[in-house]
Amino acid sequence: MGINTVLLNILSLAITSCLAVSVTDIQGPAFLSPLHGQNVKDVQEKNTFEPSSGIVTAKGSSGFWIQGSPSPDVRISCGVSVFTSSKSILSKVAIGDLITLSGTVNEFHSDDTVLSVTEIDSPTNITILSHNHTVEPLIVGKRRIPPTAQYSALDHGDFFSVPNNSSQIEVVNATLQPDKYGIDFWESLEGQLITVEDPSVLDFENGFGVRNVAEIWVYGKWPVLNKNSRGGLTITTGSSGLPNANPEVIIIGEPLDGTSNPSVAIGTKLTTVTGVVHYQFGFYYILPLTAPKIVSSISTGPKPTKINPNTRDICTITLGDYNVDNLAPNSSHLPLIATHIAQFLRNPDLVHLQEIQDNNGEANDGTVDATVTLQTLVNAIKKVEGVEYSFIDVNPVNNEDGGASGGNIRQAYIYRPDRIRLAGNSPPGGSLDATKVIFDKQRQLGLTLNPGRIEPNNTAWTNSRKSLAAVWERVGGNGARLFTINVHQTAKTGSSSEQGNLRSPINQDVSHRIAQVQLTADFVKSILKDDPFANVVVAGDFNEFVQTTAVFKPFNSILREIDEVAGIPAVERYTYVFDMNMEQLDHIFISNTMALRPVEVEHVHVNQWAANVNDRASDHDPSVASFKIC
Ligand SMILES: *[C@@H]1O[C@H](CO)[C@@H](O)[C@H](O)[C@H]1NC(C)=O
Ligand SMILES: *[C@@H]1O[C@H](CO)[C@@H](O)[C@H](O)[C@H]1NC(C)=O
Ligand SMILES: *[C@@H]1O[C@H](CO)[C@@H](O)[C@H](O)[C@H]1NC(C)=O
Ligand SMILES: *[C@@H]1O[C@H](CO)[C@@H](O)[C@H](O)[C@H]1NC(C)=O
Ligand SMILES: *[C@@H]1O[C@H](CO)[C@@H](O)[C@H](O)[C@H]1NC(C)=O
Ligand SMILES: *[C@@H]1O[C@H](CO)[C@@H](O)[C@H](O)[C@H]1NC(C)=O
Ligand SMILES: *[C@@H]1O[C@H](CO)[C@@H](O)[C@H](O)[C@H]1NC(C)=O
Repeated sequence: MGINTVLLNILSLAITSCLAVSVTDIQGPAFLSPLHGQNVKDVQEKNTFEPSSGIVTAKGSSGFWIQGSPSPDVRISCGVSVFTSSKSILSKVAIGDLITLSGTVNEFHSDDTVLSVTEIDSPTNITILSHNHTVEPLIVGKRRIPPTAQYSALDHGDFFSVPNNSSQIEVVNATLQPDKYGIDFWESLEGQLITVEDPSVLDFENGFGVRNVAEIWVYGKWPVLNKNSRGGLTITTGSSGLPNANPEVIIIGEPLDGTSNPSVAIGTKLTTVTGVVHYQFGFYYILPLTAPKIVSSISTGPKPTKINPNTRDICTITLGDYNVDNLAPNSSHLPLIATHIAQFLRNPDLVHLQEIQDNNGEANDGTVDATVTLQTLVNAIKKVEGVEYSFIDVNPVNNEDGGASGGNIRQAYIYRPDRIRLAGNSPPGGSLDATKVIFDKQRQLGLTLNPGRIEPNNTAWTNSRKSLAAVWERVGGNGARLFTINVHQTAKTGSSSEQGNLRSPINQDVSHRIAQVQLTADFVKSILKDDPFANVVVAGDFNEFVQTTAVFKPFNSILREIDEVAGIPAVERYTYVFDMNMEQLDHIFISNTMALRPVEVEHVHVNQWAANVNDRASDHDPSVASFKIC
């Protein structure tokens, strides 16, 4: 008997109220264990002591998993995690051992925003009864199929509802409804050995794992909703008008045997994985026994837009929109951004850019001017196809508009002076000047400052980018004007997990985005009040998808999203990928007059369709549209 075994025996003597229980007794039918906080002794199958009872199914560096006889009640998992980092315990048990043990049942979580893992802590008195048993993994998609519509009963169908965090799963502690809700489904398998057949990849790998090993969002061989042409899953609005944000997926975590997951892209297919269901970092994982391999990857890259930019029609304007991800003059991704604009968007007449940094990037020395950044970009664009752009922007006040400190990101316009020009004679505004709608000397509706910021002192913009308005006309056109508003709203950074404890999840700074859309909408109304038939485009990075209806409500009845007008299929409306979801953060809205004329739009997936996450120029895809202003 080794010294460790003696110590463990002494520890187990100290346990006072002990129970002999099964794994299913520990898991129970609700989110929290009925035995949370209690000491349990002789974890085993009380009634039916079958060969599958208490078998070690998997082992990692901070514990192992055991599985008992399944319950006929699908809400109750028959697997559980045993938490220990004791090398002597870990070396004692082997996969396939039938064991009994004592320990304390615990619901472990790192903080209240995430769910907890049911585990047996401080395992003692581990008795190995026999070796070499096999446990058949549950094949997800055969008898147990993940729900495709909703995450949690507490979301009341509206996953993006406001107010957020109006209840918490572990406070309510409801019994599980695994046939209806995604979180309940995976929770009912927590700790169990499962197989995910033929996984399809939903996002580039991330490196958040314990060993910084790639983790991969997937769905397996089961029915999914919202599949787009690339094989990813898009956030959509269902027929009921409620959002669908893809609860039927899981992450392949760090392999338990020390192997590493491959580097992947959206649409990659992997070999079947078997592993245990575990909750960590706010999400449900399958921790595979060993890493999957790549079966196939999509070899076709993005194609240039089919929207023809060189129409001679004096009423037609082509518009690009691109969040260029912290672009500075010396950014290594600048030439690729230029290629995207020239070859993939095919040099549109006007481009709304977001995240243009100042002339020395993130050097935090008071510089706010971005002339060098914009000149470097337009020079690079000219190099590709010879098209020459002009540019215009309005500097922020140093470090007042959010983003990386010293970077002073802002929206900017680049435009082709051979095709389009600023209308009227108004000068551009300064950082703190508010532009207003006026009838100018030509008796046409224009702006007092062109371009100019919308209500820059309003607290809705605190630490964020003020919307930038401009008014344009076609060179050689009939004088018809186009108002544009270039938008880059507060980010969602800091939101809580889709599979977290807080319902609906916290949508960080949603109240700012609501107020920002309201200010932009009020400005659009000030144009439409004087000319109900005005051409108005509002485009940019809203940092929000339209399924968060509370944010976009102020646009109802004054603007329409061009995707809807052009009839783009709902699953193909995306410009971003985050966790398991492809989603549209970047939007082009047009006024009702414009919606009555022919329109086209494409989201050009130069970044989400990259072969590798490091091949992307930006985390956003650009979009390009064509519309008529007369
Ligand atoms: C959670 O629900 C289970 C099953 O109904 C119950 O046994 C347990 O005591 C509950 N735990 C808490 C903390 O409410
Ligand atoms: C240790 O496990 C054995 C076998 O299950 C059991 O008979 C014994 O009571 C346990 N002892 C303690 C101290 O838990
Ligand atoms: C388990 O079975 C294999 C053969 O299937 C055998 O080689 C091995 O020795 C067995 N291990 C134990 C611990 O009994
Ligand atoms: C969302 O949750 C955050 C954090 O709890 C809170 O500050 C905010 O007011 C909530 N907003 C809405 C509109 O629900
Ligand atoms: C969520 O709401 C609960 C209950 O009101 C509160 O205790 C908690 O701080 C909130 N969490 C966040 C992150 O806002
Ligand atoms: C760009 O210049 C800034 C200083 O102006 C420097 O901090 C940064 O490292 C440079 N980046 C590259 C990619 O050279
Ligand atoms: C915004 O506030 C500054 C003072 O901080 C002031 O100089 C400026 O005129 C204000 N702008 C508007 C549009 O009111």
